[in-house]
Amino acid sequence: MHVIAPSILSADFARLGQEVVDVIAAGADWIHFDVMDNHYVPNLTIGPLVCAAIRPLTQAPIDVHLMVKPVDRIVPDFARAGANLISFHPEASEHVDRTLALIREHGCRAGLVFNPATPLEFMDYVMDKLDIVLLMSVNPGFGGQQFIPSTLAKLRAARARIDAYRQVSGRRIHLEVDGGVKIDNVAAIARAGADAFVAGSAVFGAGLESDANRYDTVIAALRAQLGEL
Ligand code: DX5
Ligand code: ZN
Repeated sequence: MHVIAPSILSADFARLGQEVVDVIAAGADWIHFDVMDNHYVPNLTIGPLVCAAIRPLTQAPIDVHLMVKPVDRIVPDFARAGANLISFHPEASEHVDRTLALIREHGCRAGLVFNPATPLEFMDYVMDKLDIVLLMSVNPGFGGQQFIPSTLAKLRAARARIDAYRQVSGRRIHLEVDGGVKIDNVAAIARAGADAFVAGSAVFGAGLESDANRYDTVIAALRAQLGEL
């Protein structure tokens, strides 16, 4: 089971609602929602107001990726705005365990995001509070960057930890990858152990024609690479 999560960061914001509807109709599983604060990362994007605005348009899970510091203040706002999954960067929270618990208390699935240079050790003592591990395959802040190849080895290491934990706990944790995921590298990324794939420019960059179903082709091509046709 592979999850395809288009990042609306590369969508046309002037018609965001329709973009969400179209990309789900084209077969996407989750909506990846990139929140940047011009403090933790050098860019500024969207917040709970926009999450609440798109919430009524789809049943699909909204996968909120917080690139903000501090984290805790904004978590309840996103839960109220209809987020299903909320992930954050451990460097941005003073108390990682507390923030994971806070996300769960608000009824959402919780995730930790690892920057390219962030060690996987951050997950060691909080496995029971994790629903997703998200590995950044670019430095966070912008769409349209190149996939960093060393992410493949890191994915294999994360997969080993997640599988070992599943053996003893029976609990499933998603392994998601974010940044530079394209049709020509998604198969290798899956082989390294990822089961959820964020794709921003790969999906929405295909949106230059006016055909409402233009995203079908890209999502079908990603699934074909994942052996799902
Ligand atoms: C980067 C964001 C990503 C980004 C992915 O900070 O977290 O979700 O939008 O975009 P692409 O797929 O274009 O690298
Ligand atoms: Zn993201």
